[in-house]
Amino acid sequence: MSVETQATAADSGAKATERFRANKSVTSEVTTERVNRLASRAIKALVDTVLEEKVTYEEYNALKAWLIEVGETGEWPLFLDVWVEHAVEEVANENRQGSKGTIEGPYYVPESPVLESPGTLPMRDDEPGTPLVLHGKVTKVDGSALAGAKVEIWHADDLGFYSQFAPEIPEWNLRGTILTDDDGRYEINTVQPAPYQIPTDGACGKLIEAAGWHAWRPAHLHLKVSADNHQLITTQLYFQAGEHLSDDIASAVKPELILNPQDKNDGSDKEVAYDFALAQAN
Ligand code: DHB
Ligand code: FE
Repeated sequence: MSVETQATAADSGAKATERFRANKSVTSEVTTERVNRLASRAIKALVDTVLEEKVTYEEYNALKAWLIEVGETGEWPLFLDVWVEHAVEEVANENRQGSKGTIEGPYYVPESPVLESPGTLPMRDDEPGTPLVLHGKVTKVDGSALAGAKVEIWHADDLGFYSQFAPEIPEWNLRGTILTDDDGRYEINTVQPAPYQIPTDGACGKLIEAAGWHAWRPAHLHLKVSADNHQLITTQLYFQAGEHLSDDIASAVKPELILNPQDKNDGSDKEVAYDFALAQAN
């Protein structure tokens, strides 16, 4: 068994919590009126569930114990990004022009190593997995090229683990920032990621097991694409014929985001094109 399979929910939860605190500045600019409205509705949804489902004390205490455990093991970022973020993303991007976005998830790390295009993501000498070339163009919505646009990419390895969140993986493994050339083109050499299983040994895993669900996300690449005077897009790309495209636990697959890589070098490698169109900044 490889070292990576010793990754624990508590470990990745703690790191995801730390990472969230470092990445996101949480302001207190929400008005009293808005907090009142949202908190009242959320509490009412829970209370209605108790009343309508005639929830027992036994069930109520199981919920309490579980909520305490989610907090203690740092699994709130995992829980929220799997079951709630897709709805927030839908609202945030409902009127956006250009490429489709989807959830960010808990494992983004800013300021990954910058590579010229074509570039190869940092990886181990014996990095397992099928080599994959992802290339394409970053444009404005009208199709004109965006030179010097930033394509940030991060993804799990061939075993489904992310660097900086699972043990023993080099810091920037399978993470990088590629700048587009004068024609807005980028080309990234990497390896195909594996489907990703959210950690099953923690509180989220207990819920999944108790509810008879599965813990899988389809294999995916995460990307943030940005350029001066344009809206940054956070998205993911998936692989046609991959598992769990239609039952992603995080509900984050969209048909526009599914790649169909073709054989390269007699089938030992894969290659696929994907273009990004960025909406103008407001
Ligand atoms: C989670 C992990 C991911 O890799 C992802 O893309 C979305 C959510 C999670 O564990 O919450
Ligand atoms: Fe992911």
